[in-house]
Amino acid sequence: MSDMKTNVQETVTYMKNLGVGEVDFGLILGSGLGELADDIRNPLIIPYDQLPHFPVSTVVGHAGQLVYGELSGKKVLAMQGRFHFYEGHAMSVVTFPVRVMKALGAMSLIVTNAAGGVNESFLPGDLMLITDHINFTGTNPLIGPNDDLLGPRFPDMSEAYSREYGTLAKETAAELGIVLKEGVYMGFAGPTYETPAEIRMARAMGADAVGMSTVPEVIVAKHQGMNVLGITCVTNLAAGMQANLNHAEVVETTERVKADFKKLIKKTLEK
Ligand code: 6GU
Repeated sequence: MSDMKTNVQETVTYMKNLGVGEVDFGLILGSGLGELADDIRNPLIIPYDQLPHFPVSTVVGHAGQLVYGELSGKKVLAMQGRFHFYEGHAMSVVTFPVRVMKALGAMSLIVTNAAGGVNESFLPGDLMLITDHINFTGTNPLIGPNDDLLGPRFPDMSEAYSREYGTLAKETAAELGIVLKEGVYMGFAGPTYETPAEIRMARAMGADAVGMSTVPEVIVAKHQGMNVLGITCVTNLAAGMQANLNHAEVVETTERVKADFKKLIKKTLEK
């Protein structure tokens, strides 16, 4: 067995011994969006620093724990805070939790993030359904030997984000009176925000939003045949489109829209 698979098995065994059961949906909650996990019923909370093979997240505003329980009638395993490539973690570490989710039975993944708006029609506070992504991290979490039992050597990425889930999310948003934009998420390595020239490049390449996460986790989810729903919170406009960027604004905006964000995810999950 590969090291990665052995590690996944060890983490899964540890979690099962704590009482974690079947998982329907994995949930990755981005910057400022972790509060959704507070609505999980009968929560079993496991801090990352207790989990074998989990590193400790270093970003402010990320709680750094797994929350297992029931949300909208589904068994979910939520990450309050994720691991980023810019923190110095290997891609295999950034995506390790998605391997664990699948090993616990999750056939679906909901990924969320805070990102900068590149599309000229976006405003800070907009929610965006991710219809597709551009991997601009300069690497790929699947580089290395492939485990054919986990997934194919050359995974198909033609429907990285489930059309069916996207349609459900759009229907749900309409019912709730929540504006849900849609577009392409372009993932950078970070930790710098982009320059104005990089943002013009991103727009020319077809990006609607830019961020520093999500792409690695979605690649690994697809490798394992999972269905993915992605929701971005546009916290600010990207460089050259507004005054200087700072993390405080990202936090302020997620604070403002998190009520809508939570409603949208919970209602979509219900369906
Ligand atoms: Cl403008 N860029 C990136 N890469 N990530 C962000 C962002 C911008 N705004 C929030 N997160």
